[in-house]
Amino acid sequence: MRRNCHFTAVWEFHVRGEKRRAFEKVYGPAGDWARLFRRDEGYLGTELVRDHRTRGRYLTFDFWVSLQAYQRFKKQHVAAYKSLDKKCNLLTESENLIGEFSRAVLPMPIRTNVKPQVKSSSSGHVRPATRADVPAIIALEQSAASAAHWREESYRHIFDHGGPPRIALVRQESDGRLAGFVIARLTGGDCELENIVVPNSAQRQGIGVVLLQALRVAAQEQGAMRILLEVRESNAPARALYEKCGFKVMARRTSYYVNPVEDALIYTLQKL
Ligand SMILES: CC(C)(COP(=O)(O)OP(=O)(O)OC[C@H]1O[C@@H](n2cnc3c(N)ncnc32)[C@H](O)[C@@H]1OP(=O)(O)O)[C@@H](O)C(=O)NCCC(=O)NCCS
Repeated sequence: MRRNCHFTAVWEFHVRGEKRRAFEKVYGPAGDWARLFRRDEGYLGTELVRDHRTRGRYLTFDFWVSLQAYQRFKKQHVAAYKSLDKKCNLLTESENLIGEFSRAVLPMPIRTNVKPQVKSSSSGHVRPATRADVPAIIALEQSAASAAHWREESYRHIFDHGGPPRIALVRQESDGRLAGFVIARLTGGDCELENIVVPNSAQRQGIGVVLLQALRVAAQEQGAMRILLEVRESNAPARALYEKCGFKVMARRTSYYVNPVEDALIYTLQKL
């Protein structure tokens, strides 16, 4: 399964001989179905495979971040789904839903000292960031004096091919607004948390915890063994968040920060 993918719908098709090329175009990763699915941010992509033993037999794998995202898409786009399905009937002799699959082995649950009833409002969700989120991420970053401050191109670079591997997640509310982000870099077995921001208006609702939980799952999926970060000693809210999530102080860097000069504390979350 793909990174961040927790749900896959698998379909089997028997395609009419003269229609194979058209079928591959419509059902392939850049086809009409993929374009329709892309209306939902929870869609991750499609793979189309051909059976070498049975001519005209194909399977499609539609990857989604979650079953909920897939169901939401189907509910919101039922008319467009039915209309495309009708158009495609002529291409195939038969189609059959093989199954809807979730990850068999879920990432380890997060070990934190968080009370079970995390206060996070349920009207939002965490998803991977995209290049289109950069302006909103920058606005959030600039609203938080204690956040790490980067140039715009550094944020854009996150989404370039060939850059260092990163995890970038955003918390999106049901009205589309972003209510937080977290960015981390992967190096060897380490996941280095580079920035995390929740806007003032959304603080103390558990969003910071939810972002860290999602980062931990993503880092684990990427093979990281631990999460590291550095924070100003005086940043009490951030330190309280990290400690609540099980991070421990590993080291101090004296006078590491400037404007004003201050020590950095290095926190780690070991054994993801
Ligand atoms: C740090 C930050 C991300 C926390 O986000 P948040 O969504 O408010 O955090 P949560 O609501 O998940 O808080 C979880 C816990 O952290 C601690 N905490 C968070 N904010 C706190 C504050 N202002 N004072 C004391 N403790 C605080 C509490 O223990 C809290 O649990 P509780 O509300 O049950 O007491 C947010 O304050 C922020 O964006 N700060 C500015 C940017 C920044 O400094 N980033 C860190 C750079 S290293």
